[in-house]
Amino acid sequence: MNHYISPSILNADLGNLQSQIELVNSSKADWLHLDIMDGVFVPNITFGFPVISHIKALSKKPLDVHLMIVEPERYIDEFHKFGASILTVHYEASRHLHRTIQLIHNSGMKAGVALNPHSPVHLLEDIIQDLELVLIMTVNPGFGGQKFIENSYNKIQKLKELILRKNPNCLIEVDGGVSLENMGKLLEAGVDAFVAGTSVFKSKDPVETIRLMKEFRP
Ligand code: DX5
Ligand code: ZN
Repeated sequence: MNHYISPSILNADLGNLQSQIELVNSSKADWLHLDIMDGVFVPNITFGFPVISHIKALSKKPLDVHLMIVEPERYIDEFHKFGASILTVHYEASRHLHRTIQLIHNSGMKAGVALNPHSPVHLLEDIIQDLELVLIMTVNPGFGGQKFIENSYNKIQKLKELILRKNPNCLIEVDGGVSLENMGKLLEAGVDAFVAGTSVFKSKDPVETIRLMKEFRP
């Protein structure tokens, strides 16, 4: 199966947002990854709706929105209105996760659940059948440019087993410290979608790096 590449705009040159989004438009990226942080769930704050609406207007790629906010259910309709295609919420941030997923689907978006590095995969046993995507955090959420956590391979394999057993259409996405160096092992473990921030935007030629990632075969 062909894998998906989702460059994370958080790590781009945000002083030149328009040119950075145009760069992604001209690349082989499948989605544009947007990290929304509230300063409560994670120790950082990123974009709000006024900025997101500009990003949506400029982007030709579907928005892959990763919410690192508490009580994400409060903002589902807003994110739909502002153009999210995939909406991922954290397992650790939503008290009534099943209801939150229903709200995302009712808005017509694809639903993802993200797991922090400390959260085991078996927590998804009774929600996996309702998801289009699981996002495995391969760093602690909050910042770009962190080191990939090696235990993630083990987790991805366990998730793959759960997915094959209960919902073979569900995609596995990884986020944090992903690069051309670890993509081979991640593909072998069963990853379908790759978020890449630093490894794309801090490379000499981001469009070419995205192409190499998209065409990567282990
Ligand atoms: C971290 C964010 C990531 C981040 C990835 O909390 O969820 O999407 O931008 O950046 P890199 O690829 O640099 O680890
Ligand atoms: Zn992210």
